Amino acid sequence: MAPLILVAALALAAASAWVPRTAADPQTTLLNRGCSQYNATPAVAFLSALNSTFEQLRANLSAAGAGGFATAAEPRAAAPAFGMAQCRPYVTGRDCVACFDAAAARLRRDCGAANGGRVILDGCVVRYESATFYDQATLPGNTQLCDGSAVPGGGFMDAARALIADLAAAVPRAPGLAAAATSGGVYAAAQCVATVGEAGCAQCLNVAAGNIGGCPPNSDGRAVDAGCFMRYSNRSFFPANATVDLAVYLRSGKSSRKGAIIGGILGGVGFLFLVGLLTFIMIRRSRKIKPRRGDLLGATELRGPTSFYYHDLKVATNSFSEKGKLGEGGFGDVYKGLLKNGKTVAVKRLIVMETSRAKADFESEVKLISNVHHRNLVRLLGCSRKGSEFLLVYEYMANGSLDKFLFGMCTQIYDSLMFDAWYVICLGFRASNKHVKKIFSIHVSGSYHLIP
Ligand SMILES: *[C@@H]1O[C@H](CO)[C@@H](O)[C@H](O)[C@H]1NC(C)=O
Ligand SMILES: *[C@@H]1O[C@H](CO)[C@@H](O)[C@H](O)[C@H]1NC(C)=O
Ligand SMILES: *[C@@H]1O[C@H](CO)[C@@H](O)[C@H](O)[C@H]1NC(C)=O
Ligand SMILES: *[C@@H]1O[C@H](CO)[C@@H](O)[C@H](O)[C@H]1NC(C)=O
Repeated sequence: MAPLILVAALALAAASAWVPRTAADPQTTLLNRGCSQYNATPAVAFLSALNSTFEQLRANLSAAGAGGFATAAEPRAAAPAFGMAQCRPYVTGRDCVACFDAAAARLRRDCGAANGGRVILDGCVVRYESATFYDQATLPGNTQLCDGSAVPGGGFMDAARALIADLAAAVPRAPGLAAAATSGGVYAAAQCVATVGEAGCAQCLNVAAGNIGGCPPNSDGRAVDAGCFMRYSNRSFFPANATVDLAVYLRSGKSSRKGAIIGGILGGVGFLFLVGLLTFIMIRRSRKIKPRRGDLLGATELRGPTSFYYHDLKVATNSFSEKGKLGEGGFGDVYKGLLKNGKTVAVKRLIVMETSRAKADFESEVKLISNVHHRNLVRLLGCSRKGSEFLLVYEYMANGSLDKFLFGMCTQIYDSLMFDAWYVICLGFRASNKHVKKIFSIHVSGSYHLIP
């Protein structure tokens, strides 16, 4: 009898030793949390839509082969709810669902009937909003979280920075937009929200790498943003079989076959010629049609608004016809327009634009405001300029709530993804005589001062 018990005990010990430490770890440490300060209306309808959204998300994550990512929505509810959940590539199966449960419970408890919220845990992220947000890559409020004490010796710092750079370059091309890797005593992982696409992923990880790059020589670092996540440590936080060979994605499509190389060279020459020609044409075109726009379209961490051609907007609004006029404001009239792609927009025509300072302010603030998405704020889609005439293109809202924003003064907005910053956005103008003193003023209180 005794030997049998011994054998059983040994078997048990062996079995428990075989289970990897990470296998039963949903990694529910809280990294970042935010709730919108606006409550959804009607709250009961929203909460019920949110409940079924969460249920769908959970069901999708639990399904075999779900890949640890799900979106779900109740877009036709009286108060629509949109949700997204993603587990880290190394938090799988039951751990993923357990992490989701922890995040969803926290959202329910902390955010109440708020119309938006996010909880970022070590192992997963869950976010919901009253409007769709699946394509958001990087947003103001992205941040670093450094942890642990300094690892002695310079080797760790260099190895950490190198691995972070490799992940930022490789992950946008990796399947599932995620990868974990280890090198030189550093363990690191990066992941993008599956719906941001390769370009959004690259943009987000670029910002994240800058954030997390400030953490070494600390032993642990993380970077969080709307569309991606990065983490490194001197300890392993994923099973060994979760690592990926990054070299495959760092090499940009090199082929070993001679024919392919020769073909590539010939094709490349032709391609370069074509690119050169196209660039030449585009530069000429943009010189001819587009006025200088400062860095309005510059690739910063803020995604710039669309720059529309003046002519297209003129056509869309029927040459700013009286019939299509939605209203008159003190600072310009607003017209209804139909773009070539079938989208209905509201075009605000500003006439006064005198100083170069005003133009610079206009451009930087248009860039900022177009990155703000909120159901209580009409969304700025882009702008256009011809001489002293400026056109602002807004999302068209049929229910008349447009007036309030296009003709009104200030509105306070809070977006859960703005990471706890308050924005007071004044779409009004302080005009004296013909001179516009300021086009928009955006005051940011809190820790993020985007515009002084
Ligand atoms: C949503 O679900 C939670 C628990 O799953 C429940 O307590 C709550 O009553 C539900 N709310 C609505 C509006 O259905
Ligand atoms: C999520 O589940 C629904 C059914 O509940 C299914 O129709 C949908 O395709 C699933 N989506 C994903 C991304 O798995
Ligand atoms: C990681 O670094 C910390 C700080 O230097 C150190 O205390 C810890 O022992 C290290 N862990 C490993 C596994 O090397
Ligand atoms: C890694 O190993 C675990 C068991 O240790 C297994 O359940 C899991 O499927 C493996 N993952 C991959 C990607 O091979």
